[in-house]
Amino acid sequence: MSIRYKEEFLGIQKVSKVVALTLKQMRDYARSGMTTKQLDDYGARLLSSYGARSAPYLTYGFPGCTCISVNKEFCHGIPSARKILKEGDLINIDVSAELNGYWADNGGSFVLGYDRNQYQPLVNASKEILKEAIGDIRHGIRISQIGGLIEAEAARRGYSVVRNLGGHGVGRSLHEQPDELLNYEDISDKRRFTRNLVVAIETFISTDSDYAIETDDGWTLIGNEGGFMAQHEHTIIITDNEPVILTEMNEI
Ligand code: CO
Ligand code: CO
Repeated sequence: MSIRYKEEFLGIQKVSKVVALTLKQMRDYARSGMTTKQLDDYGARLLSSYGARSAPYLTYGFPGCTCISVNKEFCHGIPSARKILKEGDLINIDVSAELNGYWADNGGSFVLGYDRNQYQPLVNASKEILKEAIGDIRHGIRISQIGGLIEAEAARRGYSVVRNLGGHGVGRSLHEQPDELLNYEDISDKRRFTRNLVVAIETFISTDSDYAIETDDGWTLIGNEGGFMAQHEHTIIITDNEPVILTEMNEI
């Protein structure tokens, strides 16, 4: 959506705060020995306490409230009572929700407890690259130029980007135009960011893979060449200067 009225700003601001706080609280709640279903149930209670509803459930009938992906799983992991978190796991939680007709999206990867598998550099790269990308986004900038920045920064750190995942417009539904805000530069893509536009910007930084492929459960994505991926995502409003980061309370 592109914001025209004060009430639209207040609506998107409120739901963004809800998804940000839910993501942060879920991250703080995660412990080794806990199942991803327990973590998701906690997220579900938080969202409902804020009066919000799970976006992937409403939009796609996703079998869970939030997406929780562990280790080799890149994204869209299904919360499961059989999946037990352990020290050193690479975890991605993605929380998106609807409140009063407004929708927001955010996510982040982190290492659970002691980093015994040394995933932290990948997590840090994704986090830093998202920050740099957001710092460069403003009215009039080509969408693809930001993709190019993400790809170059990933390569500089020795990582790849996942080419078939991307950010998207958000606000009046979970996925809106402009869609496919990719993590690489496509010179044929002439679209530009415009002021007041609300978008979910996300990184998909990977150790080995260039594409995410679906697994047998019909939801979970893994890498075409295996390895690990870190993602960080904020919902932002484009302005003439630095964007307004609506989900900054997630502290990713
Ligand atoms: Co998301
Ligand atoms: Co998203």
